[in-house]
Amino acid sequence: MAIIFNEKARTITLQTKNTSYQMKIGNLDYLLHLYYGPAIPDEDMNYQVMQYDRGFSGNPYESRNARTFSLDAQPQEFSTQQQGDFRTASIEVVNSDGSYSYHGKAVDYRIREGKYQLEQLPCVFACEADTAHTLEVTLCDAVSNIKVILLYGVFEEADVITRAVKVVNGGDRPIHLKKIMSVCLDFLNGADMDLLSLPGRYGQERQVERQPMTHHIHTISSVRGSSSHQQNPFVVLCDREASEDYGRCYGFSLMYSGNFLAEAELDQYDQLRLVMGIHPKQFFYELKPQEAFEGPEVVMAFSSHGFTGLSHLYHDFYRTNLCRSKFVTEVQRPVLINSWEAAFMDFDDVKLVEIARAAKNMGVDLLVMDDGWFGKRDDDNSGLGDWFVNEDKIKCGLHRLVEQINDLGMKFGIWFEPEMVSEDSDLYRAHPDWAMQIPGRHAVRSRNQMALDMSRREVQDYLIERINAILDDANIFYVKWDINRSLADIWSNDLPAEKQGEVYHRYILGLYRVMDAIILTHPDILFEGCSGGGGRYDPAMLHYYPQYWVSDNNNPIDRLKLHYGTSFVYPTCTMGAHISDSGRFVPLETKAVVAMCGTFGYELDATHLSKKEQKICKEQSDRFRKYYHITFKGDFYRLTNPFRMGNMTAWEHVTKDKSEALLSVVVTNLTCNGPQEYVRAKGLDPQALYSVNGSKELRSGSALMNAGLPVSREVPEYSAFQFHLVKKEKSHSKAHKATKKE
Ligand code: DGJ
Repeated sequence: MAIIFNEKARTITLQTKNTSYQMKIGNLDYLLHLYYGPAIPDEDMNYQVMQYDRGFSGNPYESRNARTFSLDAQPQEFSTQQQGDFRTASIEVVNSDGSYSYHGKAVDYRIREGKYQLEQLPCVFACEADTAHTLEVTLCDAVSNIKVILLYGVFEEADVITRAVKVVNGGDRPIHLKKIMSVCLDFLNGADMDLLSLPGRYGQERQVERQPMTHHIHTISSVRGSSSHQQNPFVVLCDREASEDYGRCYGFSLMYSGNFLAEAELDQYDQLRLVMGIHPKQFFYELKPQEAFEGPEVVMAFSSHGFTGLSHLYHDFYRTNLCRSKFVTEVQRPVLINSWEAAFMDFDDVKLVEIARAAKNMGVDLLVMDDGWFGKRDDDNSGLGDWFVNEDKIKCGLHRLVEQINDLGMKFGIWFEPEMVSEDSDLYRAHPDWAMQIPGRHAVRSRNQMALDMSRREVQDYLIERINAILDDANIFYVKWDINRSLADIWSNDLPAEKQGEVYHRYILGLYRVMDAIILTHPDILFEGCSGGGGRYDPAMLHYYPQYWVSDNNNPIDRLKLHYGTSFVYPTCTMGAHISDSGRFVPLETKAVVAMCGTFGYELDATHLSKKEQKICKEQSDRFRKYYHITFKGDFYRLTNPFRMGNMTAWEHVTKDKSEALLSVVVTNLTCNGPQEYVRAKGLDPQALYSVNGSKELRSGSALMNAGLPVSREVPEYSAFQFHLVKKEKSHSKAHKATKKE
């Protein structure tokens, strides 16, 4: 059983294959957190928690004269408010009498089979093969009768634990939530821990930063209305010595696409608290009597095998338990060509068919018509919201255009930016109140567009009707769903003044409703997410889209860092990666090797390529398909760190049974007369013999992993190599004998 309630000790232990997580209904019924880490038996871990009379750390009234029990020092599952715990809080509630206080004590718990679901928010699910269990622990404040229900999902085999939170107003007057965190995790000693996060910017998303925990609150957050280019809702707490292969690493991945907050606080006693959830900025949520609020899910994983171990847990789990699209497992992803960098908005039906015809020679399966096909859209100042085909450009009509592409034996894809509206659009002229704009003030312009008020039902319904109509009008195989600005002017004309603090979150709920109604109702369409590149690359989005555009930056050398950072949590099969004209001095082969780290495709004017270049691309597309079972289903290893000054960047995909691997290397910095470089493989069977790129001379997995392969120096700058390793013999010693006999 994955969840054990020990009646005597009043502990609740969550067990996965390699980890344990323990809480205890402890002193005065406070829910204490006792342990998260490598698996331990069902034993009471309370022995670790010491109690002292700490000056200026108060004691709950009920502890009477005992001065040693302070919530300021006790490890908690969900911290209280104004009860003497001065660390960052799990909850801030304004009670109906205007007081700011929450004093939750454990009153109930339930254990059941299967994984809980959330009503309005996307979350991970249990597959048939999973043994998943749910724990619900209810905390209640005896004065306000506000209940906080802590939800835990335990995935035994996957080594994953999820957490979410529900607040129910059990009182008889309205209350307001100002802060509600989905997870609170207290470590008894965190002085030697580091915090790793994925900050970035437009064109340079998810770079990797690591900082030692010091005595203040380390904040990773977004207040841009989306999970953002600038930060990602993923953090790791790890040992100071942790590396790719060694050390304890705790991952926290938030399934939410709006404003988020992760705080890691090293307190005065070197205890560490991590909280994560919706950002409290402009968050003021009313709950009427009996109303409930649910917070998004956090997916937690622990590995004692460094960042690689942690990444593998997330990659495996997110490849199976996050997105139900058939393109995740059943149907192979196509090689696509996208019109954006080929033509921007300057195209018509004839041009698209020409690109498709040329791309057909390149082995491309799918033509994607990007921005510019609808309304009045010759540049990015107009047209958003008018989701009607512009027949001045698509003269033959969408249906006929798709037929022409299909006749070439190719599939057709289309671009949308549903959440946005241009001031110069029929939609805005008809419904100016649908755009977010603070009354009496001018809206902030960003790419000259405004955000639609996604919290409004009629806006949601308009988008659902319009987009579904387009998707159902022609044989559409693929959709790219974009969003190209951060949110400002947070205001809904549909809500009274006192509810404007709900708009940020209601926007996201509205967005998920629209996505449910468009994406889940079109299971045969492959959806790719995009936000000016990778500005909303988060697990909630990956619940809907099997793939996400990593970045508008297609420079293959910059992509090395982009792919490296993204891979800390997201599987490489989710990473949208194309070959484009960007990186003029980088060989075409290198561009292909880099794009093969992700979903692979082209983003250039195929009609400008020579027959010879088209032929090279055909070989690349075929190679992508040939290695698909390795790159989409195997384990991913970061072999070098592109953020460190080195001469090459290398990565590797290895099939689960270790029978094949694809090791990729890009030479980034050739120094004159410099040292010989070697690339060492990982994850192979050390005893087995492998052929390297079809060579008859076999190398042991052990040699390939410990001595490595020499990388030629006699190559032009930015050259790339792929080493395809195929296991030929099961046992090294057996094969060795056989070779001798020969
Ligand atoms: C931003 C995307 O990242 C690009 O790929 C492209 O689709 C443009 N938007 C279109 O406006």
